[in-house]
Amino acid sequence: MNESIGIFDSGLGGLTVLKVLAEKFPQESFCYLGDIARLPYGNKSPETIRRYGLQILNFLKAQKVKALIIACNSASTVFLEENEFEGIPLLNVIGPGSVAAVKVSTDKKIAVLGTSATIRSHAYEQTLKKLSPDVEVIEQACPLFVPLVEEGFVHDPITQMVAERYLAQIKKDGIKTVILGCTHYPVLREDLKKVLGEDVKLVESGEVLFDQLNALFDSGALKRSTNKARQVRVCITDLTDHFERLAHQLMDPEPIGQLEKVVL
Ligand code: DGL
Repeated sequence: MNESIGIFDSGLGGLTVLKVLAEKFPQESFCYLGDIARLPYGNKSPETIRRYGLQILNFLKAQKVKALIIACNSASTVFLEENEFEGIPLLNVIGPGSVAAVKVSTDKKIAVLGTSATIRSHAYEQTLKKLSPDVEVIEQACPLFVPLVEEGFVHDPITQMVAERYLAQIKKDGIKTVILGCTHYPVLREDLKKVLGEDVKLVESGEVLFDQLNALFDSGALKRSTNKARQVRVCITDLTDHFERLAHQLMDPEPIGQLEKVVL
């Protein structure tokens, strides 16, 4: 029986999404795949990212998932128009993130932060303009944020300096709705607010996917699990002590078992 929800990311950043969904859907089982061996995706070409993504979707399908979520923004840009994979509902983060941003923005000025691949694709800008043609969009690639998170440099002066540099124009323009278009960025939430002000609205993938999944459950397109002993599996394509520690830190306090090393 197809029971769990499959989620994938290029690495461990997508655990920020898994954590939110695991908390909000306590009876659902999840199977997460982090492609650590090939991280980062954010500086790779669309062809390569798509090839990796298809391998992962096939892997998750073989785990008998009932829905698939592409938590990785860089990968979402190359699966933008697809809402199913071989008969399994497929969600990406760009559509729902854009809908949420348009909803919360009162002045129709939205900034998008992402990896170089995500920003180069203009996927957010195009989606936002389709939803609201007169919206003003500023896109900013922040490639140093991912390694800073991977190194654990959170609430750190170095991160603060990098954030000041990347966010200078957004701050100058007084933009108050900012899409965190990369799985790692929610970890830097407080660092970003320090630069942009406490009143900035940060749109995060975990929250927007919660609404999307709920809609699928409510419409009957997806069956809710009634499983009391749900399972949260975290599979990765490379395993080191560092990644093991980081995974538990990112998921805390949500318990995850032993990380599973898999070959795609
Ligand atoms: N997971 C990627 C994303 O959300 C960021 C890390 C990477 O570059 O692979 O775009």
